[in-house]
Amino acid sequence: MEYIHTTVLLHESIEGLNLRPGAIYVDGTLGSAGHALLAAQKIGTKGHVIGFDRDAGALARSTERLANAVAKGLTVTLIQDSYRNIATKLDEKGIGHIDAFMLDLGLSSDQFETSGRGFSFKRDEPLLMTFKDAATLTPEDLTAKEIVNTWDESNIADIIYGYGEERYARRIARVLCEARKEKEIATTFELVELIKKATPRSYHVGRIHPATRTFQALRITVNDEIGALKQGIAAGFDRLSVGGRMAVISFHSLEDRIVKNFFREKSDEGKGTLMMKKPLVPSDAEIMHNPRARSAKLRIIEKIVM
Ligand SMILES: C[S@@+](CC[C@H](N)C(=O)[O-])C[C@H]1O[C@@H](n2cnc3c(N)ncnc32)[C@H](O)[C@@H]1O
Repeated sequence: MEYIHTTVLLHESIEGLNLRPGAIYVDGTLGSAGHALLAAQKIGTKGHVIGFDRDAGALARSTERLANAVAKGLTVTLIQDSYRNIATKLDEKGIGHIDAFMLDLGLSSDQFETSGRGFSFKRDEPLLMTFKDAATLTPEDLTAKEIVNTWDESNIADIIYGYGEERYARRIARVLCEARKEKEIATTFELVELIKKATPRSYHVGRIHPATRTFQALRITVNDEIGALKQGIAAGFDRLSVGGRMAVISFHSLEDRIVKNFFREKSDEGKGTLMMKKPLVPSDAEIMHNPRARSAKLRIIEKIVM
């Protein structure tokens, strides 16, 4: 299996978790196990890696990458579910406290390039945008196609503005709602064309592709990424042992604000120590090597009382 995802802020986050041999490391967003592999080295064969991902493809890639460590004795438990359900899942496995909780939000380059689910505006694919793969998708699951074809214009505008920080949100929502009267919007390329139609020409030649913000907003909504983050960091912090740490890498201001406020709240309550006042960002060299790292921000907190 090939991996194209380059792990962001790898050493900074795993070093920052201060992992000891034998520790229980929970990765809420396992992806292609980039962080988990380094964590596995730190915790050694007596350690336990617990990895969550909603995407079966990510778990398959991780199984392969962690196989060597497992052969040497490391315990690995993979869970195909959202990290927001960490409390229930740890209960089911009979695990009480954990030593580290890692979140590297968003999606991996592997999903971008190969999922076939419409994450990238550069590929003509069905408008799904869900982290769940086709095998586990049910008619009740929300998709981007449902949003653009059935939601009220004002709700579409609100999410594109709120989660995409897209200044042309209202115009885009209006054009989508006009277009769908004629024909269902079914593919990424159809959506890209409509976004272009709704935005001025000057917007099409900028550094950022005109569809970037709308695609981000739809993906965040489809996967309830904000709800998952709020619930997941609270539940994860709750399960940390004293001295245990949580590291979160976020990729846009909305997510970073949620993490910052939660960590500050725990620090103000005297329950946690912030490991850095300002978020850590990738070096110029890392950004040059991996442009996806451009907007990454890392925050780490240590739990000091139960
Ligand atoms: C940026 S990637 C993680 C990459 C990983 N750290 C690595 O270095 O290989 C994010 C992963 O989190 C998963 N994901 C996103 N939201 C999730 C959620 N709520 N619960 C579980 N997995 C989630 C995505 O499917 C994706 O595989």
